[in-house]
Amino acid sequence: MSFELDPTFASDPEKHFNTLQIHAGFAPEPTTGSAALPIYATAAWQFDDAEDAAEKFALSRPGNVYSRLTNSTTDAIAARVAAIEGAAAAVAVASGHAAEILAFTNIAKAGDHIVASDSLYGGTWNILLHTLDDLGIKTTFVPNNDIDAFVAATQENTKFWYVETIGNPLVDVADVPKLVDAAKSLNLPLIVDNTFATPYLYRPAEDGAAVIIESLTKWIGGHGATIGGAVIDAGTYDWGAVPGKFPTLTEPDESYHGAVWTQAAPAAPFATRVLAQRLRDIGPTLSPYAAQLIGLGIETLSLRAQRHSDNALAVAKFLESHPKVSWVRYPGLENDPSHEIASRLLKHGFGGALVFGTKAGRQGGLEVINNVKLHTLLANVGDAKSLIIHPASTTHSQLTAEQLEAAHLSEDLIRVSVGIEDVDDIIADLDQALAKI
Ligand SMILES: Cc1ncc(COP(=O)(O)O)c(C=O)c1O
Repeated sequence: MSFELDPTFASDPEKHFNTLQIHAGFAPEPTTGSAALPIYATAAWQFDDAEDAAEKFALSRPGNVYSRLTNSTTDAIAARVAAIEGAAAAVAVASGHAAEILAFTNIAKAGDHIVASDSLYGGTWNILLHTLDDLGIKTTFVPNNDIDAFVAATQENTKFWYVETIGNPLVDVADVPKLVDAAKSLNLPLIVDNTFATPYLYRPAEDGAAVIIESLTKWIGGHGATIGGAVIDAGTYDWGAVPGKFPTLTEPDESYHGAVWTQAAPAAPFATRVLAQRLRDIGPTLSPYAAQLIGLGIETLSLRAQRHSDNALAVAKFLESHPKVSWVRYPGLENDPSHEIASRLLKHGFGGALVFGTKAGRQGGLEVINNVKLHTLLANVGDAKSLIIHPASTTHSQLTAEQLEAAHLSEDLIRVSVGIEDVDDIIADLDQALAKI
C-alpha cells in the first residue's frame, strides 16, 4: 500500500523563496487553462469507474476522494507552505488552533506528557492546560530557553517539546537550534509554532525542528480576511529511533488498513497521518474559499514581511526614546534580551510585532488604545493594517492572575502588530495617542 500527498502539486526545492511563494504548488489548470488557482468548490470528487473508486479508497491510486481530506485548492496551498518552509510536506487546516490539536494528538495520547515553553499564545495555553488535560495529556510549562528546565521537566512519557519561535505576546525568541540539540539528546522532537516569524524570517525545519505549526491567519495570509492553519512536517525526524516511542507512526494503524505511516509515507509520515487519520476523523478542514484567499496572500509574503519588520524596528526605536514609555520589547532593539538569539536566527528583520508599557501603567496603555486613530483595536496580528490590543484583558484573559504571571504578562503590556502603512503615519498616530495620557 502506498499513500503520498498529491504529487500533482510537487514543488521545485531548488527555487528561491520569492519564486516559491508565487509558483509552488500550482501549475496552470490543465482543463480550463486557468492561470490563477481555482476554487474547487466541491465536496466530493467523481471517480472514472468502479475500479478507480475502489483503488482510491484503498489508497493504491492517488487522487481526490472527499474534500474533508483533500481538495485541489487546499492542497496547492499546503504544498506552497511546505515549499516556503523548506519542509517535506504540509497539511492546510481550518485554523492555527486546528493545526495545533491535530499535531499534538498525532503523537500524544492519554497518559502522555508535553514540555512547553511558558511564552505562548493564550489560546495555546488553553489547549495545553484544559483541552489536552481533558484528553489525559499533561503539560509542564518551563521558562523559555531554559534548557536545564526543559530537560528536568522531561519524563519517560514526554512526547515532544513545544515553543513559539517568537512568543506571543512577549516577542522573545526561542533558541531553536539549542533546543533541538537538547531534545535530540533525549530522543525527543521539537515542535515549533513559527507564526510570528513566518518562513521568510526563519525556517525551523532547517535547524532540525521536527514539526512546524503556522497560523495562516496572520502574516502568511496577511490580509486578516480569513482563518487558516498548517501542520508542516520537516521530514527529517527519525520517528522509529526509539522502538515503541511513537506507536501512532511506527505501528500498524488499524483505522487505515493497518498502514504503518513511517513505511507507507517515509518522506513525511507525520503530515501524512495528520491528513489521512486525524483530519479524516476530527475534521477541521480548510475551506477552498479560504485557501484561495490565503494563497493570494502568500504571493506577497516576502515583500510584506520585510516591510512589517522595517516598520516595526522604526516604531520600536521611536517608543524606546519616548518620555512617556517605560519599556519596549522588540527583538530588533540592540538592548533587547532576545537580540543576540534573534540576530543569529532571523533573516531579513525581526518581525512585525512589538510590546510596550507606559509610565502610566495599565490605565496609560488603555488610554493609548482608546486614542489611536490609524491603529485598529482587534484581536489579531499580521494584517496589512496596524493593530493594537491589551492582551491581559483580551487574548490572554482566560488565564488566572498566577498564570498571567507565569506567562510574564504584565498588566500594562500593550501589543502592536505594526502594519505596512507609511511608517511616519504609524508613528504619528502613536505619538498623538501618547500625548493624551
Ligand atoms: C502564535 C499563535 N499560534 C497560533 C494561533 C492560533 O491561530 P488561529 O487563530 O489561526 O487559530 C495564534 C492566534 O493568535 C497565535 O498567535
